[in-house]
Amino acid sequence: LRLPAFVSKTRSEVSPMIEPARSAHRFRAVRSRSVALCRPLALEDYSCQPMPDASPPKWHLAHTTWFVEKTFLALFEASTPATDPTYDYLFNSYYESQGARVARHLRGTLSRPTVAEVLAYRQHVDERVQQVIERGLSSEALAALELTLQHEQQHQELLLTDTKYLLGTQPLRPAYDADDAELAAEHRPLEASVGDWLDVAEGLRELGFRGDGDGFAFDNERPAHRVWLRDFSIRKSLVTNQEYQAFLDDGGYQRPDLWHAEAWAVIEQEKRTKPLYWTDEGTHYTLRGVSPRPPHAPVTHISYHEAHAFCSWAGFRLPTEAEWEVAAPSLAWGQRWEWTASAYAPYPGFRPFAGVAAEYNGKFMVSQQVLRGASFATPAGHERLTYRNFFPPTACWQYSGIRPARAFA
Ligand SMILES: [Fe+2]
Repeated sequence: LRLPAFVSKTRSEVSPMIEPARSAHRFRAVRSRSVALCRPLALEDYSCQPMPDASPPKWHLAHTTWFVEKTFLALFEASTPATDPTYDYLFNSYYESQGARVARHLRGTLSRPTVAEVLAYRQHVDERVQQVIERGLSSEALAALELTLQHEQQHQELLLTDTKYLLGTQPLRPAYDADDAELAAEHRPLEASVGDWLDVAEGLRELGFRGDGDGFAFDNERPAHRVWLRDFSIRKSLVTNQEYQAFLDDGGYQRPDLWHAEAWAVIEQEKRTKPLYWTDEGTHYTLRGVSPRPPHAPVTHISYHEAHAFCSWAGFRLPTEAEWEVAAPSLAWGQRWEWTASAYAPYPGFRPFAGVAAEYNGKFMVSQQVLRGASFATPAGHERLTYRNFFPPTACWQYSGIRPARAFA
């Protein structure tokens, strides 16, 4: 066993072997959900890539499995050689340490391996993992296994958002699953009144993941540190479709004074006049198909550029991620990823995971904005107060929304 370098070695001498049944159950539960999410798809959907940012469902299923091999099974290399050496080239996402790979925008050109072969690959790797788990895991190996599951859950959210983009941007706009009652939660109206604000007094506040070996957090959430915050107010509810419609009706997409220069260039070039999935007939595309836009549901699939322009128009601003984290325990959150005014940057004292996972977060800390919260598409149990999601300011295919902030009332 080679210890994964991305977990603390200080606990290795005293770590107990972790009880296998619990690990095996969690591994099976998380891994099987990825396949279940693809069940409503037609075979033709699995290999399509509608834009460079949205990977084909088949690629997600294969890449997450490749990740399990590289970051967990590789720890037990002698007994478990790689399933297929060509998969390094096909299913490596962005790990330079793992060599050359298919260009990101060409993932949709892979008609082989077939869907059946990818599913067999998943089963093969899962069986090997189960065998390893049954022999018992040290706490270090368990941490490596947990990273594979957290990674899988991140891809499950992408599976849904990428699939929505795949289906929702083609001429027939087919439903992902028209009959799934649970999908009604996708655009559920808000409960808090849009007029309610939370006032937060100035002070020295703690930011970042505070757990010391307990619970999982990515490297980008560490270390915990203190920041001084001036007093501020943050709204208890997200911005609704109705509010965003008022921004449209007031010519929001025709007023360059509301937009950053970079954003306005995009608006002009793409001739954007409304959010992704909105029609001019008061409807929008949802996972259950095209339906009327609920006026009191949170506006969704908003880019950072749009969030900023809306706030400029409404006389608000976006909260910083520090403000968000301090206020969030007093807010209802988890419906949408909420854009913040904070650039995605390392916390003071940031240390990336070592080993393969060194490339997981740190190298993306430029030219992106932080989003906080969680969304309808986030797997249950994957959300966390200190979680730092990040996307470029143009990205709008995630379940992203707007929570306004303003000066202390
Ligand atoms: Fe990945």
